[in-house]
Amino acid sequence: MPHMIPRSPSGRLSRRSLMIGTALGVAAIPDLSAASETGELTVTEALRRRRSTRSFSDRPVDPALLAELLWAAFGINRPAVGLHTAPSWHGAAETVIHVASADGVARYDPANDSMTLRHAADIRGILSPQPFVATAPLCLVHIADLRRLTAAEDPAERLHHARVDAAIVAQNVYLFAAARGLGTCLVGGFDEPAIAAALDLPDHERTTFVQPVGWPAA
Ligand SMILES: Cc1cc2nc3c(=O)[nH]c(=O)nc-3n(C[C@H](O)[C@H](O)[C@H](O)COP(=O)(O)O)c2cc1C
Repeated sequence: MPHMIPRSPSGRLSRRSLMIGTALGVAAIPDLSAASETGELTVTEALRRRRSTRSFSDRPVDPALLAELLWAAFGINRPAVGLHTAPSWHGAAETVIHVASADGVARYDPANDSMTLRHAADIRGILSPQPFVATAPLCLVHIADLRRLTAAEDPAERLHHARVDAAIVAQNVYLFAAARGLGTCLVGGFDEPAIAAALDLPDHERTTFVQPVGWPAA
């Protein structure tokens, strides 16, 4: 029985997909570069556009778009079992996304797909010594609840898993941003003591990354 050769939504096979397929000795991988049938960008196209942005315009990010971004980042995509859009070590789901803006710092609750104000002041200016971070209208602050990682006995190992898990959440943000024309940058160079002091974080809550989000400057 002959192999069925998968095709792109347009029905065409790209030279690249044919080459990869031939090299693997299997049917060609479809070229998914076009928009999907619903008009949304394909994951492949979002991957083509993904990049780090460090220059943002003043244009605010609409709250409805922020809500979509947060769901894409770490929302619950299987409500029956309460699991998320990003994987996590042992399903710990320890990443808690905080959104710092001019209005203060809000905490994203995936279970209710909602945000709760945690801190009333604008702390964007103290997040990082890198000046571009504070120029974004929104800065995500990924904070790990290490109590959820107690399956790892070594505290250093807990922090390692927390950083890996947060980086996956951050990549979801990168891909959502790329698909919607937003800009973002993962920032490992943040001021952890300053963030802990500003948010009065207990010892078991550790910042893993900061991630500014906004419309790229023209
Ligand atoms: C763990 C990690 C930490 C990073 N920290 C910073 C940072 O502190 N400041 C910054 O400007 N970019 C930071 N980046 C972004 C990288 O510099 C960027 O991904 C790299 O230059 C490649 O560019 P691209 O993302 O546009 O492909 C970080 C990336 C990773 C994965």
